[in-house]
Amino acid sequence: MKLWGGRFRKKESELMDKFNKSINIDKRLYCEDIKGSIAHVKMLVKCNILSEDEGKKIINGLNSILYDLENGKLKIDASYEDIHTFVEMTLTKRIGEVGKKLHTARSRNDQVALDMKLYIKKKGKDVIDEIEKLQKIIAKKGEENPYIMPGYTHLQRAQVVTFKHHIMAYYYMLERDKKRILNGLDILDESPLGCCALAGTTYNIDREYTAKELGFKKCIDNFLDGISDRDYIIELLSAFSIIMMHLSRLSEELILWSSKEFNFIEIDDNFTTGSSIMPQKKNPDGAELIRGKTGRVYGNLVALLTTMKALPLSYNKDMQEDKEHFFDSLDTVIDCLVIMGEMLKGLKVKKDNMIKAVRKGFLNATEIADYLVKKGVPFRDAHKIVGDIVLYCEDKGIEIEEMKIQELRQFSSLIDEDIYDFIDYENILNKGIKKKML
Ligand code: ARG
Repeated sequence: MKLWGGRFRKKESELMDKFNKSINIDKRLYCEDIKGSIAHVKMLVKCNILSEDEGKKIINGLNSILYDLENGKLKIDASYEDIHTFVEMTLTKRIGEVGKKLHTARSRNDQVALDMKLYIKKKGKDVIDEIEKLQKIIAKKGEENPYIMPGYTHLQRAQVVTFKHHIMAYYYMLERDKKRILNGLDILDESPLGCCALAGTTYNIDREYTAKELGFKKCIDNFLDGISDRDYIIELLSAFSIIMMHLSRLSEELILWSSKEFNFIEIDDNFTTGSSIMPQKKNPDGAELIRGKTGRVYGNLVALLTTMKALPLSYNKDMQEDKEHFFDSLDTVIDCLVIMGEMLKGLKVKKDNMIKAVRKGFLNATEIADYLVKKGVPFRDAHKIVGDIVLYCEDKGIEIEEMKIQELRQFSSLIDEDIYDFIDYENILNKGIKKKML
């Protein structure tokens, strides 16, 4: 069940065999592994390293393995060391001795780097698709809910905004997340195939051919770099961590807003859960789990950075750990993007409660200062005047718009009746660049 063994006198310990094995993790690379092998064999034939007939037999064998795996006729046998071993040994079982020629001018080191790059290129696009789906849902939710709500800084009511503008902030975060993934995919778009174990090969192989055949922009220039680089995984794990950070912030807001304290939204029953003891409870578990899973995605990033940080060139077995971290983060990010989208679809926005909240807490104070500035008061002086007005209102337990004109004029004789229109919350959003939030 191994591709090596000649130079050993003793058998590997069972413990070591289990410890060393990666098939249960890397089996999901079977398609990329086979496609990479087919391109490699085509190249070997083109370079007269294998005969046409040998090439045909190996390629047919590889295609039959792929077909049978995809149709459930062949199961990946976990007693092999890794997916590369499984494919090569299954090939030899199927087509005989000629299968043993597949690994000419190749190592598992360039093979595994190739498989991962091909897999990431495919899955990176899936993540982008999910981001775009979520963006569409966010934009629709925003369009449907153009209502005013309190905007916060320091979690204190600050100024009036719209629900649409607030939720659309996440749309733009996701837009940048997409660019980060695309950038990561662009940087990794160089084929490692042909770097072999670390030092290339004495064969005159055509690396450009396999690079082109497999859809890469070019080949990696340096052999040692080609097989020992894992930046491309770290780059994607970092982009995934940032996506999760964004989803976690949104989750946090959904959790806060669905509490009785805010009461701005209701998360639909289908993304909440109940309590085994408290019959009244409806808990925002979907959002909490997204927030919680952010920790494991950050963890995977830090784990791989730490694994890689002191590795001498070139390949070291430590690097086998990369896949578990990557796959776990990939699955988690896709799940969370999907769950967030589905949860947002059913989200009920409580317009009246948001409007009520806008009307408490002097969210128009800045606009009163703007009003005074328009009448010629320097902003710093206007700021002080409105500060005094706020203190006055706090003492009386009223809002600024509830003050009589005579009361307001005690603070500045420049204040006229037109102030009430100016500081009306709906009107505020029709002024200057604030219209953008509508
Ligand atoms: N399972 C290995 C990994 O994921 C494949 C490469 C093995 N290379 C080696 N030199 N043992 O890294």
